[in-house]
Amino acid sequence: MSKSKTDQESKIEKTSSKGKREMTWYEDPNLRNLYVKSASNAMKGYHLPITTPKTVFTGTNSLTDFTIHLGAFLDEDEKRVLIIVDKDLRKMGERVADFIKEKRDIESRIFDEVLPEVPKSKINKAIDICKEFDPKVFIAVGGGSAIDMSKLILLYYEKPEINVNQMMPPSYLGLRKKVYILAAIPTTSGTGAEGSFNAMIYDDTRKPPVKVAVALYEFCPDFVVLHPDFVKTMPKWLTMGTGMDALAHATGAYVLIGSSPFTDSMNITGIELILQYLPRAVARGDDMEAREKMQLAAYLAGIGFINTSAAGVEHALGHSFGAVFHVHHGITVGLFLAPSVAYQAKVTDRFIKLAEVYAIELSDKPRHDVITEIAHMSREEALRTFFKNLFKFMNMVGAPKSISELDMPQIDKADYEANLGLLAEQAFNDTCALYSSRPFTLENIRRIYEIAWDNDIEKLIKLFKT
Ligand SMILES: [Fe+2]
Repeated sequence: MSKSKTDQESKIEKTSSKGKREMTWYEDPNLRNLYVKSASNAMKGYHLPITTPKTVFTGTNSLTDFTIHLGAFLDEDEKRVLIIVDKDLRKMGERVADFIKEKRDIESRIFDEVLPEVPKSKINKAIDICKEFDPKVFIAVGGGSAIDMSKLILLYYEKPEINVNQMMPPSYLGLRKKVYILAAIPTTSGTGAEGSFNAMIYDDTRKPPVKVAVALYEFCPDFVVLHPDFVKTMPKWLTMGTGMDALAHATGAYVLIGSSPFTDSMNITGIELILQYLPRAVARGDDMEAREKMQLAAYLAGIGFINTSAAGVEHALGHSFGAVFHVHHGITVGLFLAPSVAYQAKVTDRFIKLAEVYAIELSDKPRHDVITEIAHMSREEALRTFFKNLFKFMNMVGAPKSISELDMPQIDKADYEANLGLLAEQAFNDTCALYSSRPFTLENIRRIYEIAWDNDIEKLIKLFKT
């Protein structure tokens, strides 16, 4: 074998000789390149599906509205629901079970073995329940893990023969033959899983086991219930962490090449709501207006990012960092938001709109004064303004602005530097790196990680210039 071949190319040869591909499409350099090209403006005119749930029920009557719909939709002999929930949130699952029984005489079973990284073995256990109970509706009650798991149970229940490693980016398999409705009741305001068509699975059939991102349009839930009661007990740190995740979804996706007028409207409104209401939701958990607005903001950001890409560049960097240093996902992606925008700002002006929106929401000045001020700034000044306001906001909600500020856990600088090569390689191979407006190189990813240590504004500006 030629020495010039990369490890990945060798891996492809090895697996293709067995007659099947044992890696995902985004681990295959040829398919990655093809996919990046499909994000071009020319392809957008040809192929740009927009996928969203059918109905989002909001407010304190949302569970009633949804239950009325279920009662009308299901025939008498089809009134069976599988509720998928974390063990810790079982009471919330029971509340839904009791409610649909009382209001429309709908039977349910609760599957409460949701885990953060969905392993295939647990999915099989849920499928056994499905074979015996024959549910016609899945209701996921929980954060991203429960909702992702409900998507994967649906996939493997209806298509047991599927090999997720051989699935190309969003496609159709003809799901909903056995289970007619997939619904989500989120208990956090951040992941956007309730409106997205991707799911993460821990594929323990591969050696070594890997976390695989699966994208399928039919994963998008049909109905979403945004009831504020289901998020009001979120503790302060989780409110902040998940809120930062939503902010990263909307802000990070806005600067990607895959963005469109549709996703812009979702992402910008999401950002505006988060900047207004996250500080209130963090300060007072019982501020129900703030809770409701954050539910909507996270949903909008979810729709906004998934219809742009698998998520922004900050997610590629954050996934890798989080896997090595075990930091909460939302906090992690927040750490890489500024350098990700700085890196792409060299080749796109989209950050100028972000500078305007952040300045409007975080300043006391009249809206039109801020717009005029930003319009007269140089690109560099506008970018500085964006960084200052982003960091001001992170301070307001108590989010660490850089890796050196992290306290849960504290990261040792020497340990961080020793891992830069691994971090960069993992981020480079992440599906979220594909839609960067400015193509990635391993060397540049390493530079971004170096700057993220303290996120010094002068270093961020240098990243933008070079
Ligand atoms: Fe995220």
